[in-house]
Amino acid sequence: MDLFEHQARELFARHSVPVPRGEVAVSPGQARRAAAAIGGPVVVKAQVKTGGRGKAGGVKPATTADDAEQLADDILGMDIKGHTVHKVLVTEASEIAEEYYVSFLLDRAERTFLAMASVEGGMEIEEVAATKPGALAKIPVDPRTGVGHAEAAEIVAAARFPAEIAAQAADVLVRLWAVFATEDATLVEVNPLARTRDGRIVALDGKITLDDNATFRHPGHAELADPAAGDPLERQAREKGLNYVKLDGDIGVIGNGAGLVMSTLDVVAAAAAEAGAIGPADFLDIGGGASAEVMAAGLGVILGDPDVRSVFVNVFGGITACDAVASGIVRALEILGGEAAKPLVVRLDGNNVAEGRRILAAAAHPLITVVGTMDNAAREAAKLAAVPAAANAEV
Ligand SMILES: Nc1ncnc2c1ncn2[C@@H]1O[C@H](COP(=O)(O)OP(=O)(O)OP(=O)(O)O)[C@@H](O)[C@H]1O
Ligand SMILES: [Mg+2]
Repeated sequence: MDLFEHQARELFARHSVPVPRGEVAVSPGQARRAAAAIGGPVVVKAQVKTGGRGKAGGVKPATTADDAEQLADDILGMDIKGHTVHKVLVTEASEIAEEYYVSFLLDRAERTFLAMASVEGGMEIEEVAATKPGALAKIPVDPRTGVGHAEAAEIVAAARFPAEIAAQAADVLVRLWAVFATEDATLVEVNPLARTRDGRIVALDGKITLDDNATFRHPGHAELADPAAGDPLERQAREKGLNYVKLDGDIGVIGNGAGLVMSTLDVVAAAAAEAGAIGPADFLDIGGGASAEVMAAGLGVILGDPDVRSVFVNVFGGITACDAVASGIVRALEILGGEAAKPLVVRLDGNNVAEGRRILAAAAHPLITVVGTMDNAAREAAKLAAVPAAANAEV
């Protein structure tokens, strides 16, 4: 989960990383009051989860509360790379002498944590990396020792931070590592980490990505989630406890077990290309249990996706036998009633398959086609997705 800058600031402050005073505002009037409370020059900053806000006109200095109100009025509602600005951060303006860059991240390719630091802060770090690779220090971090004063001093020296602020910068790095490690982040980035004219080091911008797999260890992180963000179908599925990923095709895919679902996606993609359909519309793993309720919840989400033209249910009965899955499908269609209006192709195999197929045959549901093999079932689902909507409606 990516955080907004104002949320990153809060986590920074909790771990004693120096940040300028600031307040979030959702209206120009609120921005005015925030600026008045800060008293003095402020910066009004768009809160969107994308980079390059400054270049897009989403970060503006204001000398008076009146200016801040006007700027907030300009920035709220602005579109930055497809993200609408709903909030601004009104923050005390710092008098910047120099801008640096620091980050901690999970380097998946090198299977390690990595510290990066540069005296070329303020601008996009990708640009620094491309044009002046020597100016970006990269130091692996051993997760067993983390970043203490010795490691921080090494990072600061590698990036050639000026001697007079080296100790202070190292101290801030130790605190940023505390944010990274104790909050279970996969990215903590500060750009710019500024040196002010009066010689202080402050984090003027912050990006944090939290590891969603660690959410259970941080009850407080739930409130950082942005309920308006993400795909609405994925949200709906998450609320029902389903493992669901929205894709951009037209064939709904349900399977049990991530391995089977992934292979099914490949087979469906190939069949779709042959039949003139688009491809998988989603990835839904109903897991080992595959009860009628889980099947109904899964089918409910998939059939509610307007992109879906047909659904492929591919189940290999193991601990949960095929008869239970077949009953689940039949029960699910009963539960959904009129909501289920798209053709379903079902392939069952494995434990107790004969009984499973018998149950589906006995139900003789007009939307269900049972196909014996995975390849043929994928072809059938692709064919159904490729026919014009009017023809499907007559099925
Ligand atoms: N509190 C502040 N006081 C003074 N200057 C600031 C302050 N906040 C930001 N700035 C200036 O604005 C520039 C851009 O701000 P910031 O880094 O927050 O946004 P950005 O880099 O454009 O956005 P993103 O990080 O999303 O790409 C900074 O490099 C800094 O020069
Ligand atoms: Mg920045």
